[in-house]
Amino acid sequence: MEKNGIPYQFADRIGSLAPSAIREILKVTQDPTVISFAAGNPAAFAFPVEQIREISAKLLETSAEQALQYGVSEGYGPLREQTKERIKRKFGLGTEKDELIITSGGQQALELTAKVLGNEGDAVICENPSFVGALNAFRSYGLKLLGVPVEEDGMDVSAVEKILAEGRRRIAFIYTIPTYQNPTGRTMSLAKRKRLLELAEKYDVVILEDSPYVELSYDETPPPPIKALDTDGRVVYAGSYSKVFSPGIRVGFALAAKPVISKLVVAKQVSDVHTNLFFSMVLSQYLEKYDLDGHIAFVCREYKKKRDFMLSRAEKYLAGVSVSKPGGGLFLWGELPEGFDGFELCRIASEKKVAAVPGSAFLTDETKISNGFRLNFSLPTEEQIEKGMAILGQAVETLLRK
Ligand SMILES: Cc1ncc(COP(=O)(O)O)c(C=O)c1O
Repeated sequence: MEKNGIPYQFADRIGSLAPSAIREILKVTQDPTVISFAAGNPAAFAFPVEQIREISAKLLETSAEQALQYGVSEGYGPLREQTKERIKRKFGLGTEKDELIITSGGQQALELTAKVLGNEGDAVICENPSFVGALNAFRSYGLKLLGVPVEEDGMDVSAVEKILAEGRRRIAFIYTIPTYQNPTGRTMSLAKRKRLLELAEKYDVVILEDSPYVELSYDETPPPPIKALDTDGRVVYAGSYSKVFSPGIRVGFALAAKPVISKLVVAKQVSDVHTNLFFSMVLSQYLEKYDLDGHIAFVCREYKKKRDFMLSRAEKYLAGVSVSKPGGGLFLWGELPEGFDGFELCRIASEKKVAAVPGSAFLTDETKISNGFRLNFSLPTEEQIEKGMAILGQAVETLLRK
């Protein structure tokens, strides 16, 4: 036996998700004196606390038996109907061929899709950089990640075509975050959305469209979801209430063709039986009694101010860095001049008690170098943004002088 305990033989599917140097850097965020631009969390003002308190109390008074009981794997019926109605009205999503399942956050919609569509050794074509939670979910099912660059107008669709045309591996699906992408904040143009769908049709593959930020829109309206352009059930759409209501309640959803949803339901049954029923009922009552769109409009006004403030500080302090102006979402994306390492920048900044996420954390191959880094503006206060960006600016200066 080893000195430090049992030498466990962990499964390959989890072995590939070993803690990385990046996670070590991010550990500093646990120190309360650190200014963190590393999170992806909504601000506390984005939670409708009073309404949730009132609804919860009433629910326990009048419907405790149902709210505390088991539910069905498809999700709480009224919430499914409300969600279908809402995404149809707002984004033109959903046809009579589609069905909807409530999932434990959008994260689970991604994970279950990988479970249902991917065999070990299959590939996923995805943006590079992309959302780590999704990449790790895909890795955990033994899927190989084939990354393509994210251009100003979204995923490099020509690179997608090249991979599809080569046909080296079976493609489980194409994974994209077309609107306010995490981490780059970029949005895919309408032309590219159409082209991607055409390619998916031509090569007979499924698209997994992940869109948790679509409602956090601060400037112009983004193009329609790819799923809204899809007439033959080729797109699985993952959505979430995390960024517009609360991530702690863990309520998201997937909208897809009925046969796909049937499989997702079976897969979910095995994973966690159903999404938390109490909070599904709270959310459902909120949607019935209150104005979620009005709440989102308020949150967007506040986030827009924060985005603009952080952009102004980026301009003031981050000389030599190119910083994106995202139309929505929660992040700015900075790029150092070619040849400089975002990881090194974040390491220097972390020593000065400012946390940001290096671009390499979002790569399909974390060991590659990225000149990018991600900054969150929803959580820090203006004071923290002012101070933190000044410190980050010093870190940039130190790095570029090297
Ligand atoms: C791109 C993207 N997809 C999905 C999610 C999952 O969110 P949730 O599971 O809270 O709905 C996140 C969360 O940060 C995200 O950034």
